[in-house]
Amino acid sequence: MCGIVGYLGFRDATDFLVEGLRRLEYRGYDSAGVATLNSRRSFSLVKTTQRIDSLAELLEETPAAGAMGIGHTRWATHGPPSAVNAHPHLGGDQEVVIAHNGVIENYQVIKQRLESEGFQFRSATDSEVVAHAIAAELRKLRAGAPKAAGGEAGVRRAGGHKNAANKAAAQQTAAEHEMLAAAVAQAVSQFRGTYGLVVLFRDFPDVMIAARLGSPLVVGIGEGEHFVASDSSPLAGYTDKIVYLADHQIAIITKNTLSVAHRGQGRVKHNVEVLPVDEEDAGMNGFPHYMLKEIFEQPESLQNTMRGRLNEEDGTAVFGGFNLTRQQLRNVDRLLLTACGTSWHAAHVGDYVIEEMSRIPVEVEYASELRYRNPPINGATLLFALSQSGETADTLGALREMKRKGHPTLAICNTVGSTIAQEADGGVYLHAGPEIGVASTKAYTSQCLVLTLLGLFFGRLNHLSYDAGRRIIDDLYALPDQVRRALDTAEQVRDIAEKYCGANNFLYLGRQVNFPTALEGALKLKEISYVHAEGYPAAEMKHGPIALVDENTPSVFIVPQGYVYEKVMANMEEIKARGGPIIAIVEEGDTRAAAVADDVIHIPRAPEYLQPIVSVAPLQLLAYHIAVLRGCDVDKPRNLAKSVTVE
Ligand code: AGP
Repeated sequence: MCGIVGYLGFRDATDFLVEGLRRLEYRGYDSAGVATLNSRRSFSLVKTTQRIDSLAELLEETPAAGAMGIGHTRWATHGPPSAVNAHPHLGGDQEVVIAHNGVIENYQVIKQRLESEGFQFRSATDSEVVAHAIAAELRKLRAGAPKAAGGEAGVRRAGGHKNAANKAAAQQTAAEHEMLAAAVAQAVSQFRGTYGLVVLFRDFPDVMIAARLGSPLVVGIGEGEHFVASDSSPLAGYTDKIVYLADHQIAIITKNTLSVAHRGQGRVKHNVEVLPVDEEDAGMNGFPHYMLKEIFEQPESLQNTMRGRLNEEDGTAVFGGFNLTRQQLRNVDRLLLTACGTSWHAAHVGDYVIEEMSRIPVEVEYASELRYRNPPINGATLLFALSQSGETADTLGALREMKRKGHPTLAICNTVGSTIAQEADGGVYLHAGPEIGVASTKAYTSQCLVLTLLGLFFGRLNHLSYDAGRRIIDDLYALPDQVRRALDTAEQVRDIAEKYCGANNFLYLGRQVNFPTALEGALKLKEISYVHAEGYPAAEMKHGPIALVDENTPSVFIVPQGYVYEKVMANMEEIKARGGPIIAIVEEGDTRAAAVADDVIHIPRAPEYLQPIVSVAPLQLLAYHIAVLRGCDVDKPRNLAKSVTVE
């Protein structure tokens, strides 16, 4: 987790740092800070336990001048959110300052050793060992480094040959930079865990070192300036030239130069990629919260997800980025879907839909479990890693483990150029547009849609007829409008939210393809309103959770038409018989539910395999309105972050 930024150039560093941190705030927002190297050759540190806006205010009061600096927005792992635990952290006698993203698992051992060597720790973080370890390594290297021949004065004395003097000075500087990179390399070689790291050195005001293992890091290349960030979002408007650092790489960055070394390989060539111009509007467009805006964007984001992917002529879906031959795809006899959180719920929708359409067995695994399991997987299994952000550590870990075992891996991601998207053998982008609210909404429905397209694709490779494929395509064309109409329930949902916003427990119940919808509805409510909610298959409720039912525990039923409709209606009766309030999501024309439920929300009729995408809309709205009514910070709920980049 955490977002880091760095700047070295000619501007006031804090301009970029603060704006960059704002754009990275989705990665964590427990506390934040910046450090710049000032003209007195010391670090100016400004930290806050509040959000980036308050960091900006603090910097107005106490400017941290300097054209070189680093910044950090934190999601606490070790030590509670506090000013002392906020990054950046100083190392040694304030000769080093770092911002770190990741976890140093063996920090205790290193800390003890460094303490015994006289280094003084101030924070409870694992990251502070990074700062002191680098300072310690640098001291050793400086102690052993040969003195420059005569130093600058000696160079000047050497006959006034300007060129020779310049060359000698440049060599001296290059040697110093190599020494700094070596200090970082020697420090990180002691760590077990992950790091994305930017480092400044008090005595070397012209260089910044960045290093990466497991936590993403990019370098932006400008004219006479360089930028470092956890992802490309802070670079927009500053530069479109970007270098994605790979694991085990260390970058030596000056105003005008960038060189990259790889552990064990020495200097390596770095690819400069051009960032696509992001024409998407990441503003709020008049909505009070990003989450609400993103909920209402779904008709359009779904349209974008399916654009160019429906082939009417062949009655199938088209995917351009699998990097697998048709024969390889034809031979796939099992799909393994792995993900976390909401993406895992989407994977469960995919499980139902893909099996139904293609008859290929599908398994869904939590990525955090899969990465440490050793399940028997045959050679014809295809792994899909689903992640909105493309940076989720557990999903990345599972993907890497499957790659190590030689399985083909595909990613389903929203964020273009993200680590998961880059490391998978191929994949599918959601094209849902930037999702800023921590609670995933439009990415979820786009994930469900991509999985439905996969069902159609694998179905057509196997037993599904052309005619059936064509009918599915027609259904898909109608989907965005069905979601638009489901969102027309917004006002009614708001009234229902008012009625129930005082409740402290909710049950969400659905069956078959709408069981994951129940899970997702419950998660949405939990994460943004801090109200306890459980999602269950409706029939399972009587095996335990029904004990929770009383007049203060509303049950939200997802009960559209379908072959389990009668069964779910019976489950609703069971709740009613025990005095529990019922909110029912039913299809237009349903007249029966009203006799049992206290509140009924009508959504458009859709084929069963598309119901999850339509029926989740009122659940997203319900969670949103309850959270607002309870005074919660909808877009940045407590304890969470948009992208979970630690295990
Ligand atoms: C979604 O509302 C949650 N914030 C969370 O469960 C999220 O889906 C999960 O962390 C996975 O994220 P990813 O899709 O970016 O991998």
